[in-house]
Amino acid sequence: MYQTLLTALAENIFTITINRPEKLNALNKTVIAELGEAIEEVYQNPAIRAAIITGSGSKSFVAGADISGFTGLSKEQGKEMAKAGLDVFFKIENASKPILAAVNGFALGGGCELAMACHFRLCSDTAQFGQPEVNLGLIPGYGGTQRLTQLIGKGRALEALMTGNLINASLALQYGLVNYVTTPADLMEKTKVILQQIIGKGPLAIARCIASANAAVGNEKGYQMETTFFGECFGTEDMKEGTAAFLEKRKPVFKGS
Ligand code: COA
Repeated sequence: MYQTLLTALAENIFTITINRPEKLNALNKTVIAELGEAIEEVYQNPAIRAAIITGSGSKSFVAGADISGFTGLSKEQGKEMAKAGLDVFFKIENASKPILAAVNGFALGGGCELAMACHFRLCSDTAQFGQPEVNLGLIPGYGGTQRLTQLIGKGRALEALMTGNLINASLALQYGLVNYVTTPADLMEKTKVILQQIIGKGPLAIARCIASANAAVGNEKGYQMETTFFGECFGTEDMKEGTAAFLEKRKPVFKGS
């Protein structure tokens, strides 16, 4: 049914697996559109009481937005791309049913942002989180500057955002970016056990827990600012150099222009 996702419904839990393992499950336009459709299924299908988002293969959850799709985009197109992803991620965050991320490897850039849009996160001990966009002369565009700051605090978030350094599973646990670290083999089972516990509660109350917690941390202006700045980066030589260097598998040379 989907080109880039695998989906399965069992015991009222809908599992959405991003399935482009040869590209470490990078988010291209199709993945973003299909993720939006899969979340719509979560909203509409009464048999679905909860959902899990995970990645295909043992190496990666999602290694970011697909950098090969950035080439030649104008500032306006960059901004539109960010908005399309942000809208889907808001749809995840604002779902009235619990949606958890089971992070099975790299959760970088858009992958970290996708995990952070979920209601909470579990990861395997092989997981690595990060917002390495600065390596590309870019900033996060799917809410990373906002949700990372909310989840781990401004100082830690700014360190991660400005260095591009990765956060391993044990540091992610210490920072509160994830709630549990498991072995790779136990990750899905542990996630399902927690969701079964939640499913046993009153769904109307669960929906109101999510909406209230979201209201505690929302800041529309911050997201708008991030989208504008993400678009602006597409007009810079630094971003063109950074993305070309990644695709050509070489080190970028930034000039601040
Ligand atoms: N966009 C597009 N393609 C990506 C990608 C992304 N975000 N992340 C990985 N890939 C591709 C690689 O280009 C490579 O494709 P190829 O085999 O056709 O050359 C394939 O996935 C495997 O990745 P590779 O880099 O060879 O694996 P690795 O183990 O050496 O490194 C990472 C893994 C995650 C460290 C590295 O892929 C990486 O830095 N990815 C980009 C992360 C990023 O900057 N994300 C933010 C984007 S805004």
